[in-house]
Amino acid sequence: MSPLHVTRTLPEDATDAALRADVLHGLTVTPKWLPPKWFYDARGSELFERITELPEYYPTRAEREILAARSGEIAAASGARTLVELGSGSSEKTRYLIDALPLSAYVPVDVSESALTQAGEALIEERPGLEVHALIADFTAPLTLPATPGPRLVAFLGGTIGNLLPAERARFLASVRTLLAPGDGLLLGTDLVKDEGVLVRAYDDAAGVTAAFNKNVLAVVDRELGADFDPDAFDHVALWDAEREWIEMRLRSRTAQTVKVPALDLAVDFAAGEELRTEVSAKFRREGVTAELAAAGLELTHWWTDAEGRFALSLSVVR
Ligand SMILES: C[S@@+](CC[C@H](N)C(=O)[O-])C[C@H]1O[C@@H](n2cnc3c(N)ncnc32)[C@H](O)[C@@H]1O
Repeated sequence: MSPLHVTRTLPEDATDAALRADVLHGLTVTPKWLPPKWFYDARGSELFERITELPEYYPTRAEREILAARSGEIAAASGARTLVELGSGSSEKTRYLIDALPLSAYVPVDVSESALTQAGEALIEERPGLEVHALIADFTAPLTLPATPGPRLVAFLGGTIGNLLPAERARFLASVRTLLAPGDGLLLGTDLVKDEGVLVRAYDDAAGVTAAFNKNVLAVVDRELGADFDPDAFDHVALWDAEREWIEMRLRSRTAQTVKVPALDLAVDFAAGEELRTEVSAKFRREGVTAELAAAGLELTHWWTDAEGRFALSLSVVR
């Protein structure tokens, strides 16, 4: 069995500095917001895994259905020997690709060290011939990938691309393009526009798991920056923005309150009912995905959906 290689591409204090900068900026602008990458400490990653099992959260099941049916076609079109996965989390659905591709190396990339090491350790036991190089890294920053055999397939699953705002997506796709040589490809999972009720329920489940996930960002700021956010003083909100075609998750202050963030020497006032935006989750149409890929110099060569047309996987292979 090869050992699990884990590389932290950023110094430990870079994460701390990035959190401080994001919290300082996000809590002092109007409207207030925090980027979704800060949900994912060990508890946040666990809560996300529970979300993927909820009856209301269809994206994981829909994407798994596509991967189960299409991994052979993906392997035939890509022939990748290295699979790089951005925001890999538990790497659970990825096993369909790992089994279908003629792989030498798997490179999961995530901000969540706990998710990466758990998934990596399970994979090296299950697949003794596979080299696993886990990268603790922010996929919105330039990435340096390990030297592994080509061709390379970069997978970005789970609809996570929808958590980036349109300008961030354009920058992100352009930077992914720079990682690809002729013969390499990008496999992109996108959740699709559908009935508003179905979408909202996927982000506001009856058991309250998504509410706990949303509030976890407050626990992260409390722990890392000594803040005194009381998660019970905020309500979880999920709503559909029909114009921008995205779901927004917010935390709504139940009362007028002041939150202290000692590490930043900051006191933040919330009015009663004031909302803090924590995540957008854009939903896509085929034309939009094709155009965004094209703008980054990538041609959509394959498009697969689940039987109900809820979720799509698209493949772009560089000529
Ligand atoms: C919505 S979850 C999807 C997980 C998995 N790919 C799936 O399909 O179930 C997003 C994942 O991306 C990671 N993540 C979020 N923002 C990130 C960033 N800026 N850089 C690296 N990883 C990030 C999270 O830790 C989490 O594992």
